[in-house]
Amino acid sequence: MNAHAIKAAERISNATNTRFGETIAAPDNLSGADELVRQLEHSSHRKWTDQAVDGNLLRLLFACALSAPSKSDLQQADIIHVADRAKIKAIADLIPDMPWINNAPVFLVFCGNNRRIRQIGEWRGKPFVNEHLDHFMNAAVDAGIVLSQFTRAAEAAGLGTVPISAVRNHPRETSDILGLPDAVFPVAGLCVGYPLEPGYITARLQLDVTVHTNTFDESKLKENIDAYDQRRHKLFPLRKQRYAKRYAEVPFYGWSEDKARHYSMPERSDFGAFIRDKKFSLK
Ligand SMILES: Cc1cc2nc3c(=O)[nH]c(=O)nc-3n(C[C@H](O)[C@H](O)[C@H](O)COP(=O)(O)O)c2cc1C
Repeated sequence: MNAHAIKAAERISNATNTRFGETIAAPDNLSGADELVRQLEHSSHRKWTDQAVDGNLLRLLFACALSAPSKSDLQQADIIHVADRAKIKAIADLIPDMPWINNAPVFLVFCGNNRRIRQIGEWRGKPFVNEHLDHFMNAAVDAGIVLSQFTRAAEAAGLGTVPISAVRNHPRETSDILGLPDAVFPVAGLCVGYPLEPGYITARLQLDVTVHTNTFDESKLKENIDAYDQRRHKLFPLRKQRYAKRYAEVPFYGWSEDKARHYSMPERSDFGAFIRDKKFSLK
């Protein structure tokens, strides 16, 4: 192995260990090792340098993102490039606890678009008889895949990103600001820019929790979650206990306590009504 390959193999071992608590050795002569390192070392970014993102590079990243697979080749994901700073500010003002939105050099909103296929049916004189939940899901999944592929391409080009599902906190306002018509809905925003500081690898649940062989298996879930809480706490302890007034302070505050508290409060409970108003029946 040459020095570059040795370095890549080392980074793969280190990153898998930090991320999953499991050291995975890279196979010898692994092709694409650099891309795998980049994926394993992924981190979201929320602070940006002043460097602008070149317009041609951005267009190339759109092309990479929209080269992603698409359910039945229906191509139901659209990207809104919010280039007007006043519109970015209007969206950012709805989400005051995330200043990185307004500070980002580039802000995008990835949308599911079920409108085009309905329009095409009308123009071709065919009935649209697939008005059900699966159709909404197809568009939402396509948009998520395109967002993911955009982040991969952006990271390869030296950029940093962070998705913003908080655009769904105020879906009607976001939709109005962006002029989204019926059957087009926001899935997530994405801040893009050159990172001000290096990222860091956040710990994920062990692969034993999230990868199942043949049948779904949660037989050791509780102890695995406890172990994850401890492993994650050693790397990055959560300093602030969520909803501290509502819940008693606990001596050990891990990921699972934080997520349980997070989802003990209603969030985006009007999103279903918004989607139905967008002419999805969700049957
Ligand atoms: C669909 C999606 C929506 C997200 N929404 C937000 C958001 O609204 N605000 C934010 O700061 N981060 C958001 N994130 C980023 C996550 O918080 C982040 O990915 C997670 O904490 C893991 O950190 P990492 O990406 O650095 O590994 C979102 C991520 C995804 C995939």
